[in-house]
Amino acid sequence: MRFITRKIKEQNSDTIICFIFENDNKKSETFKYIDELSNGLLSKQIYECETITGKFQETFKFAINENLKVLIVGLGKKEEFTRQKFSQCIALAARTAKTLSKNKSIAIETIENCCQSTNINKKDIAQITLTSARIGLYQFDKYVADKNKIETIELLSSNIDPEIEKGAEIGAFVSFAMKFAKDLVNESAQIVTPRYIANLAEEIAKEHKLEAKIYNKNQIKELNMNAFLAVGQGSINEPMFIHLTYKPKTTPRKKIALIGKGITFDAGGMNIKPASSMLTMKSDMTGAAAILGIIQAIGKLQPDVEVHVISALCENMTSGSAYKQGDILTAMNGKTIEVDNTDAEGRITLADALCYADYLNADEVIDIATLTGAVIVALGNNITGIMGNNQNQINNFREIAEEFCENTWQMPILDELKDNLKSEIADFKNTGGKSAGTSTAAWFLSNFTKSKSWMHLDIAGTAYLDKTNKETLFGPTGVMIRSLINYILS
Ligand code: BES
Ligand code: MN
Ligand code: ZN
Repeated sequence: MRFITRKIKEQNSDTIICFIFENDNKKSETFKYIDELSNGLLSKQIYECETITGKFQETFKFAINENLKVLIVGLGKKEEFTRQKFSQCIALAARTAKTLSKNKSIAIETIENCCQSTNINKKDIAQITLTSARIGLYQFDKYVADKNKIETIELLSSNIDPEIEKGAEIGAFVSFAMKFAKDLVNESAQIVTPRYIANLAEEIAKEHKLEAKIYNKNQIKELNMNAFLAVGQGSINEPMFIHLTYKPKTTPRKKIALIGKGITFDAGGMNIKPASSMLTMKSDMTGAAAILGIIQAIGKLQPDVEVHVISALCENMTSGSAYKQGDILTAMNGKTIEVDNTDAEGRITLADALCYADYLNADEVIDIATLTGAVIVALGNNITGIMGNNQNQINNFREIAEEFCENTWQMPILDELKDNLKSEIADFKNTGGKSAGTSTAAWFLSNFTKSKSWMHLDIAGTAYLDKTNKETLFGPTGVMIRSLINYILS
């Protein structure tokens, strides 16, 4: 997909999108342009006929001629406007415009209209516009006959300044990262094996001139990641461990390690999942897909931050060679884990990945994982659970997540949670009872990092939707990619 910033009158699309607030008399440049071309039809619809009211997510379509269609999208009341509502309107607008456009190109007006009336800066407006438009347009069409694709998005403004250009550039790479991750999650687990992802990581490293360390089963053994290895031993697909590094040309301002959970299929192991819960478990590598998307954006945007991305990749299967309940596993840092439930595999693989990250001396360690069903019970499908050991880091991240239209909520990691995982024969069990599942998993993870700035994102509820949401269609969401890239850039 191509993104172009253009002056309004130079637009080349056959579909043009214009946004209006409810009860607002201010006319944007695009509004005036459309009004002029349509001999005042737009004004008439609003002020005389009241067919367009500007109510939140109201859409109105009309054609100026065979070659130019107009889509008006309501932003709602100005005083109730938020970045998240803005993002939802853009996604809806792009999705609707897709059904109108014949030349596979849509033009989106946004800059003036929203900046003047809200406190969102132009740079963020441009980024959010491109990112959310691409969210709205996303479709995994590799295996379907109907490939209705928009190829070009024009971002319209009466005055294209460097702020807009910068925001559009970030938006292009952020939205690419999201598309990359969603495609990888959507692809069959038959294809997306640990080795497949490792090969992809190698290609990405080459393209973006990153350092790549790819470890196979024997090398993982040499690193003493025996907890991680146990999870993968039931599968015919060998586990792989990947570590890519982006280093800026100048001395890095900070060093961040990102870890993504990489279970390419989670059948639950011997504690096999019921069919309905297993249905979407090819998405259990969403964390790995996210970090590989992110590192590509970082490779392009070249911030002065050193970024490491890490994933322990394996498949959690039931078989004669699978790990079993009652097994006692020793992680890389020497701590022992009694396997209480083989379906709580993510935390076991992450334990070794966190230990590995300790050797990098990063200023911050962040993991992103489809870790617990309990986070869905607690927060639903639209809020990501955040836990960690550094309140400043959590606060900073949450602020940025909100700026880039993603919901998060902090959950506690308290010391008393350790009672849930008390084992008589090892340092801990990997699961406790039903209560406080999300926090308990995070407490478990906290034992495997030495970082004083470690943060854990539980995206089990937000990574994959089984029905269309406010903004995202059915399927993978690419959640937290926007927030993490902007956090790294901040
Ligand atoms: N991958 C699942 C968590 C999950 C559940 C992700 C639903 C996405 C949607 C994880 O490995 C898992 O199975 N967790 C168990 C832990 C339990 C055995 C303590 C769960 O949440 O049921
Ligand atoms: Mn599981
Ligand atoms: Zn899992």
